[in-house]
Amino acid sequence: MTRAPTSLAGRVVAWQRSHGRHHLPWQNTRDPYRVWLSEVMLQQTQVTTVLAYYQRFLERFPAVTDLAAASQDDVLALWSGLGYYSRACNLHRCAQQVVERFGGRFPERAELLATLPGIGRSTASAISSFCFGERVAILDGNVKRVLGRALGFDQDLARASHEKLLWQRAEALLPDSEADMPAYTQGLMDLGATVCLPRQPRCTDCPLKSDCVALREGRPEAYPVKSRTLRRSAQSLWLLWASDAQGRVWLQRRPATGIWAGLHALPVFESEADLLAALPPDAVVEMQPVFTHVLTHKDLHLHPARV
Ligand code: ADE
Repeated sequence: MTRAPTSLAGRVVAWQRSHGRHHLPWQNTRDPYRVWLSEVMLQQTQVTTVLAYYQRFLERFPAVTDLAAASQDDVLALWSGLGYYSRACNLHRCAQQVVERFGGRFPERAELLATLPGIGRSTASAISSFCFGERVAILDGNVKRVLGRALGFDQDLARASHEKLLWQRAEALLPDSEADMPAYTQGLMDLGATVCLPRQPRCTDCPLKSDCVALREGRPEAYPVKSRTLRRSAQSLWLLWASDAQGRVWLQRRPATGIWAGLHALPVFESEADLLAALPPDAVVEMQPVFTHVLTHKDLHLHPARV
């Protein structure tokens, strides 16, 4: 009989192999192009949404060289609907740099991966541990919760120095063997997504329940500690919805920065007066009902003006 593992890493690895997710389309591959593409898409988007986009991207751009050679318009069009469009611009720039700086092959170390556009420390570690077995820690939002609870890490993660401490704790917990790294990294992600939920975590199903500090204290939901609450703001914008007799709508390309970077959008104005000043005096303007577009940090109250 094999004995149950006692280390945190051993438990996560054993649990991932028996209870984790194994059939997502970006699993069971060590191709860094596929893993990178999925990790960038999954940064702020749920698995169920990513599935279709991931397949379409791979069909259209089977290799990093295909993506690097594409036009930015084609990349943005395929990304359309996934949100956080700076990810698409960085994705395209990253593919170009992989070709130009690394001869079309992703570098095999997290430290180098993290020098590429759109690849932060945690994403670099995810790619490198999945594809190359590198012993590097991930620490995305879900993993902060899993490790924060298991360790009873009660320092405020709003402070960069405390977050750095948690990175160090995460590094100290890595499995000894490179062969275990893919299952360990995936196991932490799977625990965060299916067991160690933000509210009402399913602690009875958790492989870490016997030594989870937060559970022992009877207050798993108190972790991770993060004091700074999101300060939401609101902004009003006026949109010029101008069309001609053939029904063609006037669109402008947005600048390279901001939430709609590089996308085509209705011309945007900061006030109704600015919008009206941009029109000829005889233009017939019909203000449309205001609608609200909710972003992570901001509510946008949008005022379309039909012309
Ligand atoms: N979220 C981020 N990376 C993921 C992965 N590899 N599988 C499932 N969800 C994820």
